[in-house]
Amino acid sequence: MTGIAVIGTGQWGKNHARVYKELQQEGVVGVVKICDANESRVSELSEALGIEGMTDYRQILDDREIVAVSIITPSKTHYQIAREFMQAGKDVLIEKPMTMAIDEAKELIRIAQQNGRVLMVGHTFRYHPAVRELKRRIDGGALGEIQTMIGTRQTFGVPRKDMGVIYALGIHELDLFCYLTGLDYPENLLAATSHTYSQEVEETAVIFMDFGRAKGYAFESWLVPVLDKKRELVVVGSKMSALIDYLKPEELRLFDVRLVTHDGLPAYIENKDNQVVSLPYAEPLKEEIRCFISCVNSRRQPPSDGPVGLRAVVMVEAALESAKIGKAISFPFE
Ligand SMILES: NC(=O)c1ccc[n+]([C@@H]2O[C@H](COP(=O)([O-])OP(=O)(O)OC[C@H]3O[C@@H](n4cnc5c(N)ncnc54)[C@H](O)[C@@H]3O)[C@@H](O)[C@H]2O)c1
Repeated sequence: MTGIAVIGTGQWGKNHARVYKELQQEGVVGVVKICDANESRVSELSEALGIEGMTDYRQILDDREIVAVSIITPSKTHYQIAREFMQAGKDVLIEKPMTMAIDEAKELIRIAQQNGRVLMVGHTFRYHPAVRELKRRIDGGALGEIQTMIGTRQTFGVPRKDMGVIYALGIHELDLFCYLTGLDYPENLLAATSHTYSQEVEETAVIFMDFGRAKGYAFESWLVPVLDKKRELVVVGSKMSALIDYLKPEELRLFDVRLVTHDGLPAYIENKDNQVVSLPYAEPLKEEIRCFISCVNSRRQPPSDGPVGLRAVVMVEAALESAKIGKAISFPFE
């Protein structure tokens, strides 16, 4: 059975470790090992989960029990660590962002191809049950033509030091708006950022993405004191609209309400019906990891593969450039 190692067991990586432990108990994966450069962190978690821990990931490179790894170290280290594991013959799931440089993302795709490795990027919200249900309904035509997408991630917390809010949060909207529209890139995007405490790290960003008929608006911030955490997606379609509270993966709200026009001009609002679609609860991260294991076993490339990860990095870099120069950026951008 698939032996797994988790590299990096910080804030997010400890969730990977916990999920693999659950999947081990369910008989989905075999041995699970964890590694973190921080000794006390790894020893506490390995004791809590009852699994082997270590501080140097190089010990796992030629460990024959381990066939695949999750890499959840700081984003700037993803390239180096993923490269070493793929060259050592392991399949990799890298948390988003895949890398923090376009060239590095391209190089990882090349190494994966050269070595016949599964390369998956942790765009977790693609595995969110409500997002998947929404995508199914969009593709089936239930919402009509997508007109507007609004993504909001607001919280009040200490800003990260290793990346700004666009790499940390906005990347989800950049990826999801493409996923929902079925397009690789918008035609162009325009971003604006606020830097209150550091020139390197933006704490707030707005991003406008123009997909032609469909428009995407993202608002991301770590500095909104009135809310604990807000994670929301609104999609307005020509037939129906949808609302997802990402913190409730078991719920998709649909609104059968539209603006009726007369002679091409807005006339009145017609409200037919609102409904809550209840979905079986599933943790998005667990769904992501299940998908990874299934791809490792079947040698399929995952839905969020290297090229998806690369495009997200390209869009983040374009948004950062747009904010810097104060102008819209058109695609292709590289
Ligand atoms: N998909 C998502 O929704 C999601 C959510 C949160 C974070 N993330 C991503 O996960 C990654 C980690 O974020 P985090 O918030 O957990 O950061 P973190 O700083 O809390 O954890 C990173 C961990 O990596 C360890 N580490 C650093 N270098 C290492 C090395 N060479 N070998 C082994 N361990 C090493 C650190 O000691 C630390 O424990 C980031 O890339 C972030 O963008 C993704």
